[in-house]
Amino acid sequence: MKIVVTGGAGFIGSNFLLQQIATYDDCQLVNFDALTYAGNLDNLSSIESDPRYSFVRGDVTRPADVAGVLTEDVDAVVHFAAESHVDRSLDQADLFLRTNILGTQVLLDRAREVGLSRFVMVSTDEVYGSLGPTGSFREDTPLAPNSPYSASKASADLLCRAYHHTFGLPVMTTRCSNNYGPFQFPEKLIPLMISNALEDRSLPVYGDGKQVRDWLHVVDHCTAIDAVMRAGEPGEIYNIGGNSERENLQVVGAILDALDKPRSLIEYVTDRPGHDRRYAIDASKIHRELNWQPSVGFEQGIADTIAWYLDNREWLAKVRSGAYREYYEQMYGNR
Ligand code: NAD
Ligand code: DAU
Repeated sequence: MKIVVTGGAGFIGSNFLLQQIATYDDCQLVNFDALTYAGNLDNLSSIESDPRYSFVRGDVTRPADVAGVLTEDVDAVVHFAAESHVDRSLDQADLFLRTNILGTQVLLDRAREVGLSRFVMVSTDEVYGSLGPTGSFREDTPLAPNSPYSASKASADLLCRAYHHTFGLPVMTTRCSNNYGPFQFPEKLIPLMISNALEDRSLPVYGDGKQVRDWLHVVDHCTAIDAVMRAGEPGEIYNIGGNSERENLQVVGAILDALDKPRSLIEYVTDRPGHDRRYAIDASKIHRELNWQPSVGFEQGIADTIAWYLDNREWLAKVRSGAYREYYEQMYGNR
């Protein structure tokens, strides 16, 4: 099976590529990535000389770049490439709209041209907006995105819906909750807090810290995407979640305890504008129809993740210092 993975040098994309190589002898994987600040080929150093893997630097918003990799012999596209950080979207909405909406449209058009048979749109639970203290998002929950990031993802989802409805393009859309695990860029809550705590720097908690996220280990997200790619029904949406709701303060407290650091490192800072209060996922559809369920509990997953960051302090230091960026700019030019 030949798979083009967009955004394969990012956090989830690189975990997906590693998992495909470890699971399927007969896979052929093309990692198509622009190498923005979030892309890091070092995540894939263990497979870079594997004959089943190749890397092409390119931009999903550029039709010529996309045409170079999305050729008639491709069996599936898994579309991870995006600007993914909510806080950045507050200042750079234009970049988010370009990459996340226009990039998806360029891919969809090319997928039509080559008659692609499987397209997985990797979306997010944030398209549903925010929940009150009870209830959970179902696939038919109305879209109500609250940030430029989530609005751009919801727009891309609607394009996927339209291309399936109008042109019969076989698109499956996944909407997953918050991921954590190895190779996550230390701007997101868990790796940022681990990284700051390791350096005895303050841990910035937005608002009252009682916002709730449903945490899923990245390996479980990857097995869910694999199940959708191989057996999902075209035109369908699949929610993916870990059934592991935690308040942010609980997560931060668990990290401090594991690292034997004091609660005094917590610093309450101004809340994120428009901050979604609570996410929770009803993942019964993917469980029922594709027999998927999470395998890593939060307590085990967070312990493993902290251990990974402790074992990979050089990776963390290089990411934080921007050393990878300098290297890629020398190799591939600035972007
Ligand atoms: P990430 O920011 O770590 O990685 C994004 C990757 O996309 C990077 O490698 C980057 O270089 C690449 N990219 C960005 N713009 C590009 C462009 N124009 N052309 C080609 N490549 C480009 O993101 P992530 O956390 O791995 O998320 C991957 C996908 O999963 C995103 O679509 C995100 O919306 C979705 N998602 C993320 C989470 C989460 O918790 N991280 C949860 C649900 C869904
Ligand atoms: O729900 C899925 C989404 O999860 C994905 O679509 C996004 O790509 C991904 O970034 C993530 O979005 P969040 O905004 O939920 O993740 P983030 O790690 O930025 O924040 C998690 C929670 O922690 C949120 O309530 C904001 C809070 N937070 C975050 C940071 C970075 C803090 O309190 N302090 C911080 O410094």
